Amino acid sequence: MPERIFFTREWPGTAADRLREGGLDVEVWPDFNAPSTSEIEARLDGGLFALVTTVEDPIQAGLFQNASHTPEIVAQAGVGYDNIDVEAARKAGVWVTNTPGVLDEATADLAFALMCSLARRIPEADAYVRDGKWTAWHPSLFLGKELAGATVGIVGIGRIGMAFARRCTGFGMRILYTARSENLEAAQIGAAYCELETLLAEADIVSLHIPLTDVTRGLIDDRRLGMMRSDAILVNTSRGPVVDTDALCRALVAGRIAGAALDVTDPEPLPGDHPLLKAPNLVVVPHIGSAGRQTRARMANMAADNVLAVRRGERPPNALANL
Ligand code: DGY
Repeated sequence: MPERIFFTREWPGTAADRLREGGLDVEVWPDFNAPSTSEIEARLDGGLFALVTTVEDPIQAGLFQNASHTPEIVAQAGVGYDNIDVEAARKAGVWVTNTPGVLDEATADLAFALMCSLARRIPEADAYVRDGKWTAWHPSLFLGKELAGATVGIVGIGRIGMAFARRCTGFGMRILYTARSENLEAAQIGAAYCELETLLAEADIVSLHIPLTDVTRGLIDDRRLGMMRSDAILVNTSRGPVVDTDALCRALVAGRIAGAALDVTDPEPLPGDHPLLKAPNLVVVPHIGSAGRQTRARMANMAADNVLAVRRGERPPNALANL
């Protein structure tokens, strides 16, 4: 009987075919929306070698406790894994892996694009033209924030934060960053380490590049939004719950900050009637940071590599905990 693999989504590229060629029995969830937990449980109960997951699949302790069979590996196709209870998986003897490194440039591209869009008011200006309002050139039409010479504050200088910082150097920006400790690579490109409070007080643009953990949940709250300059903008391509959504809404409505550009939200997906969408100076896109064609194929392939390693009886290259 071939070992069964369940992909909770269809991915661009050849990852599923590679696994099939390796003799595995691959099922790919065909719908646009994610399978429910009971759909995933049903696959586990049927006996599954590997589960290939995304950021949207809640892989919590109950899943391992309730299922009559546990998989050998949960291979997350994504770098963030806050949707997975890694410790519960470890206790159940299940490998958990992720896909670090392959999506840094694509995610940094999107953070940079969001920053430019909001700073130069591109979505607003685009809507203006489409609404037939473009009747004249005027020196004061859609004045925006200039990037050259502006101070960008990068919260979290891991791989994605660094890729974003490199882009900022090309635009002549002054770079501040916070991290658990000073980073040599960041220093080499002229970025200055500082405390979060200093960064929030000085930055024209605050860009978040930190994982969601118990420590970072709700980090950007009323108090910290209050420390930002009133002409500053916030960019979030990390995880929605790092920002307190209600506090952000209040800050935007009251004009306490000048705008926010979000790839990630809390909740996610963000319902079309969510109050945040009524806030001014907001640009929001549906968690597409890693959505480069090649990047998405690389993510799925890396997840497949981890599955194949476990099948060979090896430690998967991107294991998040030792078994
Ligand atoms: C990640 O890899 O963590 C991205 O947010 C998409 O899943």
